[in-house]
This record gives sequence, C-alpha cells and structure tokens, in this order.
Amino acid sequence: MLQDIDHVLISEERLHARIAELGEQLAADYAGKTPIFIGVLKGVVMFFTDMVRATPIRCEYDFLAVSSYGSGTTSSGTVRMLKDVSSDITGRHIVILEDILDSGLTLHFVRNYLLSKNPASLKICTLLDKPERRRVDVFADYVGFSIPNEFVVGYGLDYKEEYRNLPFIGVLKPEIYN
Ligand code: PRP
Repeated sequence: MLQDIDHVLISEERLHARIAELGEQLAADYAGKTPIFIGVLKGVVMFFTDMVRATPIRCEYDFLAVSSYGSGTTSSGTVRMLKDVSSDITGRHIVILEDILDSGLTLHFVRNYLLSKNPASLKICTLLDKPERRRVDVFADYVGFSIPNEFVVGYGLDYKEEYRNLPFIGVLKPEIYN
C-alpha cells in the first residue's frame, strides 16, 4: 500500500495539531448549545472520531451516507442518499463534518437536505478543501487545510475503497489511477 503513495501531503502530527485547534474553536463557538455533529460517511470516519474527541463540550452525534463518486477519481455529479440521520434535528444546532470539500456537490446536497428539516443553525466543518475544483457554491465555516488539486488518499479518503486506513493524507501515484 505505501509504495502507491507518491508523497505525504499532511502528516499525522499536522493533522492532529490542526484538529486540536479546530476543536478549541468549535468548543468556544458551541459552548452551552449541545450541537449535533453529523458526519458524512464513509470518508469522514477518522476525522470525525478525532474531531469530536478534540471538542470537549456537551454534544450529540449522528451520521448520514451519500455517494457521488462511484469508483472513479472524479465526481459523477449525481448525489445519492444511502443512509439518513436518525436524530430529529429540527431546532437543533448542526455541524456537518466532512473529510473533503471538492466539487461541492455532496455538501450542497447534504446542506440543503438538512436545512429542509429546520435546524436552529447549520455550519460546515471540513478537514480538506480543494477550492480549485468547486462546481457549485458551497462555503465551509471551518476548514482544516486548503489543498491543491492532487488526488489524495488516507485518513479516511479512498481510491476504489482502499487506502482509508493510512494515518496521514498522501498523494496517490498517478500510475495507480491512470
Ligand atoms: C467523497 C468525500 C466527500 C465527497 C466530496 O465521498 O468523502 O463526501 O466525495 O466530493 P464533492 O465535493 O466533489 O462532492 P465519496 O462519494 O467518495 O464517498 P466516501 O465518503 O464513502 O468515500
């Protein structure tokens, strides 16, 4: 697996340091509000578990799953709901957690879907943002790292479902997906 990685883009140390900062920021912004953190499966898993543990306030959490990528490296443009949240989010403060904001199609869909349930507030926290790739207007309130347009895997992000278990964010060698 490691031989397929061209280079490490964000090390484990940098990930954890930035997540600690984001956790402090979220804890300050949501103190006394008992937000519901909603993770967008599956890519968010590593970020989600580290992020909620870095945010020492009363909170709840839930998940939804959508898919837009199929098995390729570019978005098909179609977002499908695979699993809905189980919480009643009406009147609640919602923070969507995502691993990557790329074309924006996924978060555009998820944001509109959750807003239709009338939460008290809704913000987006993404570990990675690739602003160059945006196809629809979506804005993240909290961003871990803004990254260049390279195919990244690891720390939850996959290529054909593999590489999610790498503890860092790495750039995949082009020969793997070409
Ligand atoms: C990936 C990633 C984001 C989405 C971002 O999910 O986890 O949810 O793509 O891309 P976008 O901004 O272009 O929509 P994917 O559909 O690959 O599913 P996964 O989370 O299960 O890997």
